[in-house]
Amino acid sequence: MLKSLSGRFLFLTIVFVMLSEVLIFVPSIAQFRADFLIMRIERAQIASLALLADDIISTDLEKELLENADVFNVVLRRDESRELILSSDMPMPVSATFDMRKPGAAVLIRDALARLINPDTEIIRVIGYPKYQAGTLIELTLSTAPLREEMIAFGLRVLLFSAVISIFTGMLLLLVLRQTIVLPIKRVVGQIQAYAHAPEDARRIISPASGISELREAEYALKDMQSQLTSALKQKERLAQLGEAVAKISHDLRNILTTVQLFSDSLGSSADPRVSRLAPKLVTNVARAISLTEGTLAFGKAEEPPPRLSYVQLGDIFEEVMENEQGLCESDDITFKADLPAGMVIRADPEQLHRAITNMVRNARQAIEATSKKGEITLRGYETDIDWLVDVSDSGPGLPEKARRHLFRAFQGRVRTGGTGLGLAISQELIRGHGGVIELLGSDEQGTCFRMRLPKGRLSDKEI
Ligand SMILES: Nc1ncnc2c1ncn2[C@@H]1O[C@H](COP(=O)(O)OP(=O)(O)OP(=O)(O)O)[C@@H](O)[C@H]1O
Ligand SMILES: [Mg+2]
Repeated sequence: MLKSLSGRFLFLTIVFVMLSEVLIFVPSIAQFRADFLIMRIERAQIASLALLADDIISTDLEKELLENADVFNVVLRRDESRELILSSDMPMPVSATFDMRKPGAAVLIRDALARLINPDTEIIRVIGYPKYQAGTLIELTLSTAPLREEMIAFGLRVLLFSAVISIFTGMLLLLVLRQTIVLPIKRVVGQIQAYAHAPEDARRIISPASGISELREAEYALKDMQSQLTSALKQKERLAQLGEAVAKISHDLRNILTTVQLFSDSLGSSADPRVSRLAPKLVTNVARAISLTEGTLAFGKAEEPPPRLSYVQLGDIFEEVMENEQGLCESDDITFKADLPAGMVIRADPEQLHRAITNMVRNARQAIEATSKKGEITLRGYETDIDWLVDVSDSGPGLPEKARRHLFRAFQGRVRTGGTGLGLAISQELIRGHGGVIELLGSDEQGTCFRMRLPKGRLSDKEI
């Protein structure tokens, strides 16, 4: 109950109203006591006036008058003389005197609270101005029992009244809160849930209708967000359909090209010198076209499977990659170097790591070969407390501007003739699958260096 907005609101209203009632309660109980005592003074004076009017008064009548006034005795002070008007026996001595002539608010509050707290019945003396004869002082003694009783009864009435007021106010506020805030919020939540079920359905986009300006602003913001999301989803769907179509076309095209390749191979031995001269070019271009369709198909297979992590000797992977690439070199102009601590072990999917490093080393090799100069490719492995790192650097010509602008973006960064522009994008995807990242550390005419960073921390299934 307290977790809901309405519950909290009701509870807080009751607490706050009670709190303010306590602030009212304290001075009003003090005032109640003062009124009570002044009333007693008035009553005592009326009794004494009866006596003053008639000197001969029977003891019975005196007793009756005192009982009516609810006091033990009454003393009138006039011109410094003290006149005992009415008197009766007191069950105990006077324990305190209260002067009601000009009482301060603080004193009244203090005395009233003290009376409430003290349960013992006492006899007190009260001094005050009589109402009907100015200049005369009146002094009386009385028991505190009826005073305290009435104070308690009054206090209970005030508390009950405050409780009724606070519950009533709370209920009213709650009703208003429900109508103006809770119900509109529930409506918005309902619309969000409906939208979440079918975000591509534009009819489910929220239509702002709240009367509260803050909530309406939120509704408009939500509407914008949902509209953008819905159109992005539609676009994505169209792209997915397009991708599927491209994959199908690539597939068939590759089959056709493979057949063409078979024929073009035999064209080399043609008797026609023009045909046999152009045949090798045709063969190379067909091979390129096949490689492009295969790359597209591979990329179209969407996501790479999650890595199957195991501990691998990084040195072994370096060796294998370098050996393969060396084998593909047309000359001995490129030197391969590995630099890593002996026996360095890292946790990764060996197959995927191999592919990622191969892509980078191959790029470096192709870049150096394109310059027809000597070059060097260095693979460096090392670690920090949190990461394993692999740097692939070369002394090649550096990244062309276009490749740099579209780095790691599939198909877009291709500069090299014959390249598909997929290598770096795939490598990045593989390393991201490990929770890591590939960054370009630097690239200029002296060479290029890429850094692969693999986190050591165990990855949750979700991250993978
Ligand atoms: N070490 C490097 N030195 C110079 N240029 C590079 C280097 N690595 C990448 N590049 C440039 O970046 C481009 C993109 O590389 P990427 O590996 O993504 O595609 P690709 O090599 O063209 O094709 P693919 O690898 O799919 O056959 C390359 O065409 C090349 O121009
Ligand atoms: Mg490449």
